[in-house]
Amino acid sequence: MKIISVVGARPNFMKIAPFIKEIQAYNTQQKANGQEPIAHILVHTGQHYDDRMSKAFFEALEIPEADINLGIGSGTHAEQVGLTMMAFEKVLKAEKPDWVVVLGDVNATLACSVTAKKEHIKVCHIEAGLRSRDMEMPEEINRLVTDRLSDLLLTPDELSIENLRQEGAQDHQVAFVGNIMIDTLETNRTKAEKLIITQILDQNNIEGQTIQFDSTLDFGLVTLHRPSNVDQKEVLEALVRFLIDEVCKDMQLICPVHPRTKKNLQSFGLWEEMLQHPRMIIQLPLGYHELLRLNMDACVMLTDSGGLQEECTILGTPCLTLRWNTERPITLKEHGGASVLVGNNVRRIREEYQITLNENRKPIRPLLWDGKTAGRCLQAILDYKEV
Ligand code: UD1
Repeated sequence: MKIISVVGARPNFMKIAPFIKEIQAYNTQQKANGQEPIAHILVHTGQHYDDRMSKAFFEALEIPEADINLGIGSGTHAEQVGLTMMAFEKVLKAEKPDWVVVLGDVNATLACSVTAKKEHIKVCHIEAGLRSRDMEMPEEINRLVTDRLSDLLLTPDELSIENLRQEGAQDHQVAFVGNIMIDTLETNRTKAEKLIITQILDQNNIEGQTIQFDSTLDFGLVTLHRPSNVDQKEVLEALVRFLIDEVCKDMQLICPVHPRTKKNLQSFGLWEEMLQHPRMIIQLPLGYHELLRLNMDACVMLTDSGGLQEECTILGTPCLTLRWNTERPITLKEHGGASVLVGNNVRRIREEYQITLNENRKPIRPLLWDGKTAGRCLQAILDYKEV
């Protein structure tokens, strides 16, 4: 069997690492038994290319270097998707795999699933069935198209199975495997625990900032990168004012900054004030273990990232999700999780923020978020039978 797995952007890297380890373990076993191993090719579309957005994760999570890098880089959605399709089509024609495995909801996921189906190659989607029902999110479009085309839909939770059924997916196409990102969290937890927070902050300091972190005091974590939060000046400015004028009165705030957000903070004239504020600690994009370490001790997370919502659920960090909807309802308090949707309206964020100040950590573990998802993913591919 020949499998091509595709990654493109940062959230894909945490998801591919355990899947590749699983293939390696399977192949060792196959060879020991004199059986044929899986031929695996890793394709990186190159959507994320900065060392801190890509290479650092390959190294930290021991992902083998991609066999093929399509070098797509930044661009509009149509540019990224179109260029990826053109380049990936050539790979498929040359390699003729049995399966293309795509993960999550980034542009690589959409582009490569469409290209594979047009080449009559089976597609497996890991993290299938998530729905925000918000068609203004590029990721929702990516999820809908990918799931509609995929032969095998591997879901992180049972709510996602229901979404897929409602859209007409057949039982033989769908398997509930759990959350593959939690495999990565469990594998790396011990290593992350050993990191020292002051060292992390020093190593990832932004030029021009003098860090004044007091490890005896509380801190919160902020990550913002969604276009809906960071692309308009009035929205981003209101959020920054709330963080500086209100949250920083209660605690120190550590903010690893995505390249998109940094660019906008600078062009909206907000960057310098953040950099100079003694309780605001701006960081370069952090490595996997570094962010996990900070999340273990943060007293609150303010984020628009889906992956962090999930990690907060397992770690129990009270999480304010700065979005009006989520494709990951299982992480919400009403489903037993640690996260509350607060959108980007400051009044709403303030209300929920006040509640989290009195909350303790309450880790929960949704069904099959047990660190063994990658094995179930590979087994589902090996067991797949066309009907
Ligand atoms: C992408 C994903 C999003 C995911 C996020 C995680 C899609 C549609 N979006 O959004 O789902 O949550 O990744 O980060 O696929 N840039 C750099 N260096 C890089 C990469 C990007 O400087 O290595 C800058 C560029 O200016 C680029 C901008 O960041 O234009 C946005 O990058 P892009 O890949 O278009 O989308 P993300 O916002 O990162």
